[in-house]
Amino acid sequence: MNNAFPTIRPRRLRVTASMRALVRETTLAPSDFVYPMFFNAALTAPNPIAKMPGVSQFPVSHARAQAKLLAERGIKSVILFGLPKTKDPRGDSGCDPDGPVPRAVAEMKSAVPELVVITDVCVDEYTDHGHCGILRTRRDGSVEVDNDATLEVLAKMAIMHAKAGADIIAPSDMMDGRVARIRKALDAESFETIAILSYAVKYASCFYGPFRDAVNVTIACGDRAGYQMDQANAREALREAALDEAEGADMLMVKPALPYLDVIRAVRERTNLPVAAYNVSGEYSMLHAAAAAGMLDLDRAIMEVLTSIRRAGADLILTYHAIRAAEILGG
Ligand code: PBG
Repeated sequence: MNNAFPTIRPRRLRVTASMRALVRETTLAPSDFVYPMFFNAALTAPNPIAKMPGVSQFPVSHARAQAKLLAERGIKSVILFGLPKTKDPRGDSGCDPDGPVPRAVAEMKSAVPELVVITDVCVDEYTDHGHCGILRTRRDGSVEVDNDATLEVLAKMAIMHAKAGADIIAPSDMMDGRVARIRKALDAESFETIAILSYAVKYASCFYGPFRDAVNVTIACGDRAGYQMDQANAREALREAALDEAEGADMLMVKPALPYLDVIRAVRERTNLPVAAYNVSGEYSMLHAAAAAGMLDLDRAIMEVLTSIRRAGADLILTYHAIRAAEILGG
């Protein structure tokens, strides 16, 4: 038997660091990361987010310097979220061309033209009730998110972001049909080269907790289970991914990442599109909390987590760890 010990010794390939590097299957580079950022129209100085150590809301006046800092570290892409001055039931401030996101897009693109700027398209940061769509009352008096009415607002917001200079539009609302609606709207305005990164597979997750602080969103009533996916479902993820691909998505996202590595793998095996994974706020904060309590080494935990997401099949990782990870990779 020549396929067994002592002829076969897997440890031979682990003897030295360079041997291990030679046979390493999964790589990480700063260009794999998309850094999420929060721009707040009401600020004049950065405002640290207490539940996300190292992450701040920024005033738009800091957008240029931030873009340069990211470029210096080799990070090639950002995704922007906005905190408007005013909120209403329809999220109108999300379509304001003078809002924090379009202004930050323009500033970042003029400072670093090659930076790939992605904008999150969703009304939850702009609605006073905190839901990802426009509400309507059913006959029995209960409230639901009106899918088709929401599509019109999303299309308007996407156009506004494209006009500001965004390279990629990323709808995160989980309304049915929004990729097709946004594609149609972009094409009608001659933005046919602007790509769509669809949050195709987005679960109703507790791991978004710290993010709600980051964007000052409180959900007034109910939860997001009527539009975000049930945590127990994987086949449904493939259905969502296939639909968004058919509607014209250029890239597909799975979110969150760590509790759904199996789903990332399954989506990877079914599509030829680039697959992104969002290593969300709660996944970020729990590493920081554990490290602060002396339970694990932060840098090593960051690299292990990011490697696991890439190994599961993600091409891109949206992560608040991007800056630290890029520093670690840079030596
Ligand atoms: C919705 C949106 C959310 C996140 C990204 N886009 C919150 C939600 O759906 O409740 C979460 C990101 C994170 O937790 O880091 N606009």
